[in-house]
Amino acid sequence: MVDVKNIVIIGAGLMGHNAGQIFLMAGYNVTLVDIKDEFVDNGVAKIDEGLKKLEAKGKLGEGISTADLMGKLKKTTDTASAVKDADFVLEAVVELMDVKKQVFKTCDENAPAHCILATNTSTMSITEIASATNRPDKVIGMHFFNPPILMRLIEIIAGEKSSDEAMDIGVQVGQSLPCLRGKRFVPKVLKDRPGFIVNRINAPVQIYMNWVFDQAAEKGIPWEQIDGDAGSLMPMGPCELSDYVGIDTLFHVGNYYMGTLSPDFKPGKVISKMVEDKKLGRKTTQGFFDWSGGRPKIDKSQKAGLFNVETSMAIMLNEGCRLLEEKVVSGFKVIDEANMAGMNTPGPFAGGKKQFEKWTKILEELAEKTGKEYLKPCELMKTGGFVSMRK
Ligand code: NAI
Repeated sequence: MVDVKNIVIIGAGLMGHNAGQIFLMAGYNVTLVDIKDEFVDNGVAKIDEGLKKLEAKGKLGEGISTADLMGKLKKTTDTASAVKDADFVLEAVVELMDVKKQVFKTCDENAPAHCILATNTSTMSITEIASATNRPDKVIGMHFFNPPILMRLIEIIAGEKSSDEAMDIGVQVGQSLPCLRGKRFVPKVLKDRPGFIVNRINAPVQIYMNWVFDQAAEKGIPWEQIDGDAGSLMPMGPCELSDYVGIDTLFHVGNYYMGTLSPDFKPGKVISKMVEDKKLGRKTTQGFFDWSGGRPKIDKSQKAGLFNVETSMAIMLNEGCRLLEEKVVSGFKVIDEANMAGMNTPGPFAGGKKQFEKWTKILEELAEKTGKEYLKPCELMKTGGFVSMRK
């Protein structure tokens, strides 16, 4: 197996520089690349800042200084020369297929034959990105969760032609990276399907939320009452959470799954109107709630009776069963563990083993009520076939 020493990160933005910091902390030589000096300098400054903060808290490790680690960091705007000695490349450029393909083509033409090319894409096909190279066996997905220094999960995704060795190297590199919240979880995603594991099992909950938002708007129910439905069972209720994530993000993600999984993911009327009105939540200070004075104080004392946390778990269990049916993962435990590592909340299978019959009924009724076919329970959920699986 390749001994990985030199890592090149293409794209010095939010994900790229944060990943750069943890690769340095793991002891690799890192080269950071972006298209303009100011972008790459900004990334370098953020890494320096991030390392200094940890050093001040004594979290950089015994005898290790920011200056030592920064000495292992190079920067450039020239991808072709950056990858000449690379053992492993992580691409974290904008989420546009043409740009990613161009980056992979340049890397393929200039990197040594043994070099693994990984993409941090959250939505794009690894197989299609790999098609821009002459080494599709060495192209994998390496999907970090934001921010990589805090979130334990890294999904390693196989494209159609990824070799077992490339996948193993991806897992090995992922496991070598430090994380402030404990041990990394670095599962293999065996098939290149939309959303991979964690984003996928959470995706159809948005179909339900869209329906809840639109019902509330039609009936003139205040948003506080929707969050009141979730009560203390969720750290943030559906409306506050949507504001926090960004209404535009939900809109774009909905459109993406609408094109790749089912038309039922079409963003709802409420979300679409908010995007039109540029009420994008926390980032614009206006969304379901007013964020201009910081986190809104939400009166959750009244309930609308529209949103139900158990229903969300049933939806997640159904999607987890679909991942098993599609053979995207090797077993259900991976799904639960990935959700915990990526979202800090339990996955659906632990509870679902006892509840699947009740949850199947919940979903049958929900699909009927909402007219959303995608929410119907799949065969594995209905039969509870996963209950007898050992892992
Ligand atoms: P970002 O917009 O903060 O950074 C992207 C960087 O790539 C920019 O600095 C841009 O100048 C640079 N870039 C664009 N074209 C380039 C090229 N040809 N060569 C070199 N650099 C180039 O984006 P962000 O959020 O860091 O996302 C990067 C990737 O990570 C995307 O594929 C995204 O889907 C994925 N991702 C993002 C997450 C998030 O929460 N932001 C989470 C997981 C994955």
